[in-house]
Amino acid sequence: MATHTINGTSLETLVSLSKRRGFVFQSSEIYGGLSSVWDFGPVGVELKRNVKDAWWKSMVRQRDDVVGIDASILMHPDVWMASGHLENFTDPLVECQECNRRYRQDQVPGDLCPACQGNLGEPRQFNLMFKTFMGALEDEANTVFLRPETAQAMFVNFENVQTTTRKKLPFGIAQIGKSFRNEITPGNFFFRTREFEQMEMEYFCEPGSDDHWYEYWMSFSMDWFKSHGLRAEKLKLRRHDADELPHYSKASADIEFEFPWGWDELETISNRTDYDLKAHADKSGKDLSYFDDQQKKRFMPFVVEPAMGVDRSVLAFLADAYDEEGEGKQQRVVLRFHPDIAPFQVSVLPLSRNDRLVPTARRVYDVLRQHFNTQYDDSQSIGRRYRRQDEIGTSLCVTVDFETVDEDEAVTIRNRDTMAQVRVPVDGLEAAIRDQLQLMRGDCQG
Ligand code: GAP
Repeated sequence: MATHTINGTSLETLVSLSKRRGFVFQSSEIYGGLSSVWDFGPVGVELKRNVKDAWWKSMVRQRDDVVGIDASILMHPDVWMASGHLENFTDPLVECQECNRRYRQDQVPGDLCPACQGNLGEPRQFNLMFKTFMGALEDEANTVFLRPETAQAMFVNFENVQTTTRKKLPFGIAQIGKSFRNEITPGNFFFRTREFEQMEMEYFCEPGSDDHWYEYWMSFSMDWFKSHGLRAEKLKLRRHDADELPHYSKASADIEFEFPWGWDELETISNRTDYDLKAHADKSGKDLSYFDDQQKKRFMPFVVEPAMGVDRSVLAFLADAYDEEGEGKQQRVVLRFHPDIAPFQVSVLPLSRNDRLVPTARRVYDVLRQHFNTQYDDSQSIGRRYRRQDEIGTSLCVTVDFETVDEDEAVTIRNRDTMAQVRVPVDGLEAAIRDQLQLMRGDCQG
């Protein structure tokens, strides 16, 4: 079993690896970049997609009690009035009276501007929602907002989903999608950004059972991260104090991860009670209550919500996977991802671009890519290619050499973590890869 040889790494190392290997680029880089906005590159997009697919599989496809939706980013402005976001989704902001820089009040120690030492003014509430206009006229009546959370679409579609699926309580509605917040202090690479993706699930249940489901979803979420490879010692649960609770919540807790700069929030689980459904029922005039036909009674469901950031999870998986080992020429950087999270599970490497090797290597590649996320890599020496695949965390490398074509119709499988190599017949390759990936999954349980 492979264990990490170092405990963690710096954020700078992750930023430079991300750029070098095509995980993440700064947005609009050729124009000098747009501050705190990031683009996922060819390797990063595979990683991010795997994180979302793994979550969707555990949350929706493998459960009978959760269904998915994919709602629009733009919603009726009354949604944000009813949800309380227009009034409450604010941060207290202080402005320097000398240089006019703005800061979140809770992030500046004392009354002086950290940049120029000028005096800071009185705090003002600053709404974090991005505004835009719908239609040709740019006026107040046409103002719409970019959603700051995906959750509201689940509340306003509660009745549509319940009646079309005929789900009985308790059941959940899940969604993965973009959210936007005009954060005053974004930062730490793509940890806090103004445009990000969320994976959220609203679990509708009978009042009185909400405390049970709150505990259930906290442990489900913690187990999800561990079973996808985050090390248990890098994760902890922190319950919010009463004065930290969001405006809609009766109880919230963060799953925190030990990022390179310290412990920070990865996911929030909240008991939102009937706050949102009641607010939308009041504002829209539609009855959003639920009739329980066994108990013959009508009530407003309570909601428990696990709310996870996709980008933030990607950053945690990347930071946790990072490892360095060996010395001198043997030194390597290796990303020890769980096989379901790794951008590529397999890479096919012909020993060289020799004409005798390429047709077999391409044939092997064409078979494997039907079953695994597979890359074909034939540039530079085989040693360098192994290092490159280690650096993007590819679980297994399959090498096609002259013995393959001249003698045994067999290839070598190299394990990323142990660097052990085994020779297997091309005929049994798919099964051998499945077995090795399964063993690596076992090694990754946090
Ligand atoms: N619907 C509830 C909700 O949105 P939240 O704690 O504000 O709760 C949930 O957000 C998760 O979304 C966070 O735990 C984090 O992972 C992610 N998230 C929130 N703001 C973010 C930002 N500015 N940049 C990146 N991810 C963010």
